Amino acid sequence: MALGNSKATYGCVSRGIHWLAVLLLIASFTLVWSDLTGYHKSVGVAILAVAAVRIVWTLVQPSPEALGNLPRWQHVAAKATHGLLLLWLLVMPLSGWAMSSAAGRPTSFFGLFSLPPLLGPDRALAGQIREFHETVATLGLLLIAVHVAAALWHHYVVKDGTLMRMVPCRFAKCSCGGHEPRAVGADVPHGGGSPEKASGCCGGGDPEKPKSGCGCGGH
Ligand code: HEM
Ligand code: HEM
Repeated sequence: MALGNSKATYGCVSRGIHWLAVLLLIASFTLVWSDLTGYHKSVGVAILAVAAVRIVWTLVQPSPEALGNLPRWQHVAAKATHGLLLLWLLVMPLSGWAMSSAAGRPTSFFGLFSLPPLLGPDRALAGQIREFHETVATLGLLLIAVHVAAALWHHYVVKDGTLMRMVPCRFAKCSCGGHEPRAVGADVPHGGGSPEKASGCCGGGDPEKPKSGCGCGGH
């Protein structure tokens, strides 16, 4: 499978970064809820780096087109949600870093190195940033819940290939043998007979028989 995105699907780099960010977020929440603030901060620094790489990658790569014939507002909502999630991935660690700086505490990455303070010590400001950090964390969790619900709705209700085109490459059973998968609803040419409609890579059909089900057009 290709490293870069195409108009039809996410490449391995986008998928890998997406799921790495999800794992780091799970670690970050688990650590802070276990009162392991030092490790929470270190994982947060890693999220900042991953978010920066991801934003640059998203900007230089084509954005896969929405699948299916869904209403326009849903395409706009999906784009807006993705943009807000990326912004959130930046704002959370930056506000955490600012909070630690204002509290006069170091921001270390697992004891290997420390980031320079973003602000001078100011306890009142540290308290305000903390409230912001907590509130925005909660808003992000709500947004993630909407995002995950939408992904599951695409997979189980609409039954298109939206979720499968974000599955990490090593778990994606259906490969198009180096060819681009087709978007859902696109005509799949095959030797005569009535035209077949693609259902997105692995978005339908038997993954063991990817020839038509994954929209690879006979490849
Ligand atoms: C995406 C990254 C991050 C997420 C999702 C996140 C989320 C959270 C959450 C949910 C809390 C608990 C709030 C509460 O008490 O209810 C928290 C607390 C905190 N976070 Fe973060 N955070 C992130 C990154 C960072 C970073 C990079 C730093 C510092 C460099 C940081 C520093 C702190 C501190 C100092 C607290 C207070 C912990 C305590 O009360 O002991 N966070 N964060
Ligand atoms: C179990 C949890 C998750 C699932 C099942 C999931 C699923 C997906 C799917 C299927 C897509 C592709 C959507 C499309 O093709 O239109 C996607 C894209 C995206 N997801 Fe998630 N996601 C999850 C968690 C998260 C989290 C925690 C974040 C960030 C906080 C996130 C941020 C994004 C972003 C920004 C995109 C747009 C593509 C990109 O820029 O990489 N997702 N997700």
